[in-house]
Amino acid sequence: MPNSPILAPSILAADFRQLGAEIAACEAAGADWIHVDVMDGHFVPNLTLGPVVVEACRKSTDLLLDVHLMIEKPENLLSAFAKAGADRLTVHVETCPHLHRTIQQIKDLGCKAGVTLNPATPIMAIEPILPFVDLVLVMSVNPGFGGQTFIEESVAKIAALRSRLDSVNPHAWLEVDGGISEATLPRVRRAGADAFVAGSAVFRHPKGITEGVRVLKSALNTK
Ligand code: DX5
Ligand code: ZN
Repeated sequence: MPNSPILAPSILAADFRQLGAEIAACEAAGADWIHVDVMDGHFVPNLTLGPVVVEACRKSTDLLLDVHLMIEKPENLLSAFAKAGADRLTVHVETCPHLHRTIQQIKDLGCKAGVTLNPATPIMAIEPILPFVDLVLVMSVNPGFGGQTFIEESVAKIAALRSRLDSVNPHAWLEVDGGISEATLPRVRRAGADAFVAGSAVFRHPKGITEGVRVLKSALNTK
């Protein structure tokens, strides 16, 4: 496995009345990246945030901003998100008919480029782009909401992608998003994921954000 495992709290589950403070708490507790879920009410049945909130996150932390675009026609907004301070921009294969062009656009903006796929989309759909991306994100829930149940089939998908990436692009990150908890994380870790998004398990931890980060970071480091 090329990359040391990282934890990316998803601010979707944060208390937006005090977003800056909650991001700072994640950083102080040892989170590695901050995951930002952008939803457009079309590709997914929920509407969240845009570049102005990414800009606010940028002012709140030095951690990498890992921006997950669940939007139609992402190519129209890539430069706005890059200007707002995104470090990574991940697009859904389901929204990108010209995927190589979109990935190149992201790189030309100076960001790392990621591709993701819904639970029902087969790996074959992203096979041609695997050599060209910096990150592959496996959705382990249907995108749109936090707090959903982890889809078990994702473990086999991660294992299959790990082995494809090992041969065509071993330095790419293999990230997983949806239903990640103390219980599910070790299994996806063993399957070969090296970046773990967690919303509820961090921000809704009964003992608070610091404990949420601590528990998941320690799960990351025990194989
Ligand atoms: C779902 C989002 C996720 C979400 C994860 O569409 O992409 O990032 O915030 O939330 P949990 O960890 O609660 O499943
Ligand atoms: Zn996400």
